[in-house]
Amino acid sequence: MKKTNSFLKSKLLPIILCFTLIMSLSVIYNNGSMTVDAAAAYPGDAAVSNKANYGTDVIYQIVTDRFSDGNTANNPTGALYDSTKTQLKKYFGGDWQGIINKINDGYLSNMGITAIWISQPVENIHAVFADGSTSYHGYWARDFKKTNPYFGTFTDFQNLVNAAHAKNIKVVIDFAPNHTSPADPANVNYGENGKLYDNGTLLASYTNDPNGLFHHYGGTDFSTIEDGIYRNLFDLADLNLLNNTIDSYMKAAIKKWLDLGIDGIRMDAVKHMPLGWQKNFMNTIYSYKPVFTFGEWFLGVNEVDPSYYSFSNDSGMSLLDFRFGQKVRQVLRDNTDTMYGLNAMLTDTANSHEDVRQQVTFIDNHDMDRFGQSGVSTKKTDIALALTLTSRGVPAIYYGTEQYMIGNGDPANRGMMTGFSTTTNAYKIIQKLSPLRKTNPALAYGTTTERWINNDVYIYERKFGNNVVLVALNRNLSSSANITGLNTALPAATYSDVLTGLVSGNSITVGSNGAVNNFTLAAGSAAVWQFTATSDTPTIGNVGHPMAKSGDTITIDGRGFGTTTGTVTFGTTNATIVSWSNTQVKAKVPSVAAGKVNVTLRTSGGVTSNTYSNFDVLSGAQVMVRFVVNNATTTFGQNVYLTGSVAELGNWDTNKAIGPMFNQVVYNYPTWYYDVSVPAGTTIQYKFIKKNGSTVTWEGGSNRTYTVPTNATGTVIVNWQP
Ligand code: NOJ
Ligand code: NOJ
Ligand code: CA
Ligand code: CA
Repeated sequence: MKKTNSFLKSKLLPIILCFTLIMSLSVIYNNGSMTVDAAAAYPGDAAVSNKANYGTDVIYQIVTDRFSDGNTANNPTGALYDSTKTQLKKYFGGDWQGIINKINDGYLSNMGITAIWISQPVENIHAVFADGSTSYHGYWARDFKKTNPYFGTFTDFQNLVNAAHAKNIKVVIDFAPNHTSPADPANVNYGENGKLYDNGTLLASYTNDPNGLFHHYGGTDFSTIEDGIYRNLFDLADLNLLNNTIDSYMKAAIKKWLDLGIDGIRMDAVKHMPLGWQKNFMNTIYSYKPVFTFGEWFLGVNEVDPSYYSFSNDSGMSLLDFRFGQKVRQVLRDNTDTMYGLNAMLTDTANSHEDVRQQVTFIDNHDMDRFGQSGVSTKKTDIALALTLTSRGVPAIYYGTEQYMIGNGDPANRGMMTGFSTTTNAYKIIQKLSPLRKTNPALAYGTTTERWINNDVYIYERKFGNNVVLVALNRNLSSSANITGLNTALPAATYSDVLTGLVSGNSITVGSNGAVNNFTLAAGSAAVWQFTATSDTPTIGNVGHPMAKSGDTITIDGRGFGTTTGTVTFGTTNATIVSWSNTQVKAKVPSVAAGKVNVTLRTSGGVTSNTYSNFDVLSGAQVMVRFVVNNATTTFGQNVYLTGSVAELGNWDTNKAIGPMFNQVVYNYPTWYYDVSVPAGTTIQYKFIKKNGSTVTWEGGSNRTYTVPTNATGTVIVNWQP
């Protein structure tokens, strides 16, 4: 005993002291390598209670049926179920209790996961198709107000939310209001004939639909946006969201899930529903219990679609960042593009999204081949994860990627979770970088700047205020790279790799002028160096929810706001402050002219922040109205648009008019129609115009007048006024 003590004092103490010194230095320069209690460090933007901002979060995507079976008693029986877990179109038994177990045993939080996205939780069809297909994936709803019994009961769901929240994990549900289930108009016995139930009461089937709850225009050929919205996605019975029964049913259904405490929504198939309906649906959510919502608008390899960006900028929701995902796969997995292509994608998406930082990034999901490939080095996955976790956007990790699961195509990419090892390199990479997203705001909110590049090497810098993260990637698995002439905003010091060499990274030394000493970047490597500032000038990182009406309380996250209440300004109008801390301010949107406005903050000491631009202020609560104009004949290249007296119709600015309107599916040329989100209960003035580029032809006559319904959809049908 004594001997040990004196040994401790004489030999170990200096070592311990020295170690403590190094550790305290590393607190300043390398806090990503420690286990950081993120919630304690920055209660503002890290807290699970902040449902409007996912900037600092790491999402884990779970196909509920394929993760963990925590309750065999709720498994389906007969042809729906395969206990061998090899017939990939059948249910395997995974459920909410299984997820609860993995939350409680620390598998997710120990990895640094702060949000889970689970399969659509609603009751799905129980039918089995001839090819063995079932609704294990959750996308074939029959009753949006009930639970999928194979996932659990409402009590199980509530337990899941409670278990997640206890570990600072947010719960995101998949939600698919576009459709019910597969239907065949010629065969009432196909599946469940698309039947929709309201808490057990049948509303309609696809072939017995007297009140027009479904669209009946056949399947889409994906040729135009209009075709994809109003025709069936594959054979999925397409819901008519203009129908008041459906509109109010979906709003009641989502409120039921919001009441259970969910923190986010992943909206399925947003390309296949009218933007106008989705905007009014988002207003419903934001006016009730605001939660971060991101939509799925699939983009193929190298696909760039302007409509994708107008959706992310104007719908009030974020999108899954398919351009990011597809490009990362090309550059880091398939070698069909270089680091220059990756950098170009990052630059272009930063310019095209009003706020690229709240879009959801990923390297694979249930609709594409898994990133990992048989016979391909897991190094590629490691590098791609390091990139994703340090890039702008909210990373979503597909379940099993941390176990290097492989599988091409649906359903091979949705196999049963192969294991829960906490020692794979991928697991450890996520574990190192997730806490850094909480502690260093450069990752959540910072700019992205290329610092060094060639075909194989990409060194980029994230910066927010005085916070800096520098990341180096070398995708070449056999050749190292000599890095000379690298400059950084990191202050002069030596920086160790936050990843502690997990992906062959090294330390760097930065001189006083930001010049980095030459170094060798190993083959197949990723290194992360970071500086977290202890104080900052006021800098806004996020204003959420991103679309609001006056009187709504929004949350501003950032750094350096000070601890004494200052001022928040929308446009030129000051907001009422609800709460104020150094990293988070809550304020009520003041009464300002609707449209995109700038938000700024001023500390009590009079220092003004950066400007957060394009915050979307609505004219008021929204409903959807279909505007239809007959006899609007046009010349080649000319299209019909809608303009009017409210911001939602562009405030008579023809550059902001709504359209081009549609004329192919529900109505046909020379009739044009469009579904628009407009302020409820408001009397608006409007007119149709014909536009060809910048050439505008106005309707004749005086302005039209319409009083928007207060709590229901509306339809306006008029003739073009010559
Ligand atoms: C996109 C989903 O991600 C996919 O898996 C699903 O089949 C379709 N939407 C239809 O819901
Ligand atoms: C004829 C119109 O001139 C043209 O502008 C329009 O795109 C097509 N019809 C298709 O509706
Ligand atoms: Ca089960
Ligand atoms: Ca649709």
